[in-house]
Amino acid sequence: MEARANYERRIKWFKEARFGMFIHWGLYALPARHEWVKSRERISNEEYEKYFKHFNPDLYDPREWARMARQAGMRHMVITSKHHEGFCLWDSDLTDYKATNTPARRDLLQPFVDAARAEGLRVGFYYSLLDWHHPEYTPDIHHPMRDNEEFVAQAKGRDMRQYAEYVRGQIRELLIRYGKIDILWCDFSFPGRAYKDMPGKGKADWESEKLVALIRELMPDVLLNNRLDLPGDFVTPEQYQPRTAVQLEGVPVTWEACQTFSGSWGYDRDNLDWKTPDMLVRMLIDGVSKDGNLLLNVGPNARGEFEPRAVQMLEAIGGWMRLHNRSIYGCGPAPFTPPPDCRYTMNTVGDRLYLHIFSWPFKHLYLDGLADKVEYAQFLHDASEVAMRATGGVLSTAPAPGSNTLLLQVPIQKPNVLVPVVEL
Ligand code: GLC
Repeated sequence: MEARANYERRIKWFKEARFGMFIHWGLYALPARHEWVKSRERISNEEYEKYFKHFNPDLYDPREWARMARQAGMRHMVITSKHHEGFCLWDSDLTDYKATNTPARRDLLQPFVDAARAEGLRVGFYYSLLDWHHPEYTPDIHHPMRDNEEFVAQAKGRDMRQYAEYVRGQIRELLIRYGKIDILWCDFSFPGRAYKDMPGKGKADWESEKLVALIRELMPDVLLNNRLDLPGDFVTPEQYQPRTAVQLEGVPVTWEACQTFSGSWGYDRDNLDWKTPDMLVRMLIDGVSKDGNLLLNVGPNARGEFEPRAVQMLEAIGGWMRLHNRSIYGCGPAPFTPPPDCRYTMNTVGDRLYLHIFSWPFKHLYLDGLADKVEYAQFLHDASEVAMRATGGVLSTAPAPGSNTLLLQVPIQKPNVLVPVVEL
C-alpha cells in the first residue's frame, strides 16, 4: 500500500483545483444525439461507418477550448481519447479505427495536450474500457449488437484476454507519447450486470490489477479514477450531487462529481434539457462545501467547436468565478452549520470563511457559532462591507443572548451576481 504522505502529495493540486472541464468528443458528434447512440439505437459497425467516413473537424482549435476553460475558472481538462464506440482520437499503432484514417487526417490529442498546457491547465485522458468496435470485445448488456442473435453467436469465440492486452497497449501509448499526464479516467465497470447469458464486465475482464501496475510504473504520479472495479485515487459521482462529503467505509475520500450541461455528454443538437448557469455555479459551490470537485462537461460539435449555448454557459460561470474564485480554489468544508439555503466553504489556513447565499433573504442572516470569531464581513464581488453584530434578544426571532450567533444585515436587493458570497 502506498504511504499516505505520498498520496497526499500526488492529490494536492487536484484538491486545490476544484473545477475542471470534461470533453466528450468522438464520432458520435455527427449523429449529434448522445454518445450512446450506437448502443441505444443498436447500430451495426457497417451503419456507423458513415460517421467515420465523414468525420472532418475543420474548425478544431483546442487552444480556443483551453482558453474558454481557463476563462471559466477551470484548472484541468479531461478528454475522451476513446469512448465506448471504440474510435481513437490519437494515432494508435494498435488499431485503424482512429482519427488519422478519417478526413481529419491527424492525431487530435497532441494539439489538445499542447493547448491545455499552454493555458496552464492540467491534462487528463478519459479512456473507455467498453469498446463496441474491437473484434475481440464480447457482447454484453451495453453492446449495440446485444439483441442480434447471429452477431452474438458469431462472437462466441471472442477473447477478452486479447482485448485486455489491447487496452494495456493503448494506455501505454497514451502514457508515453504525450509527456506528463495528470489524470487517467477509465470508464467503466459493470460486474454482475448480466443480460441474457452475457455476463457483465469488471476487473477480471479488463485485467485491472495488471493494468493498474502498468499505469503506476509508467506514470507514478498520475491520478487514477475508481472505475476499473478497483479503488482508485478519487471517486466519481456522476450526474448527481452527493448529500454529504463522500466516504467509503466510513473514511472520507477524494471525489469529483462529473456533470453535464444537458444530461448528454456528447454533442446533442436537439436537447433542451439545459441547466442554468446559476444552477451549475451552485453545484460547484455545493461540491466544494462537501470537499469535492466539479468536472463539467462540454460536448464539442463535429466541426470541432463548442456550440453557442456552451460558450454562453462557460462565460457566465467564468464571470462568477473571476470575482469569487477565492471561495473555491484551495477551499473546503467549514466546521459550522450554515443558515438555510446557504453553503460555507473555508480556505486551508482557516482564516477566511465564505458564506454562499443560494436564496436571497430579507435583510437578515443568522450565523450560529460565529459571533466571537468574525472580525470583518464583506461581499466578495465588490469588497463592500456587510454590516454585522452579535445578536442579543433585540429581535423576537433572534436567538437568546449568549448563543454566539452573528447577525448579518444584507441589502434588500440581491447583488447582481449569480450567487452572492460574503467573506468573513
Ligand atoms: C458514463 C457513460 C458515459 C460517460 C461517463 C462520464 O459512464 O457511459 O457516456 O462518458 O459516464 O462519467
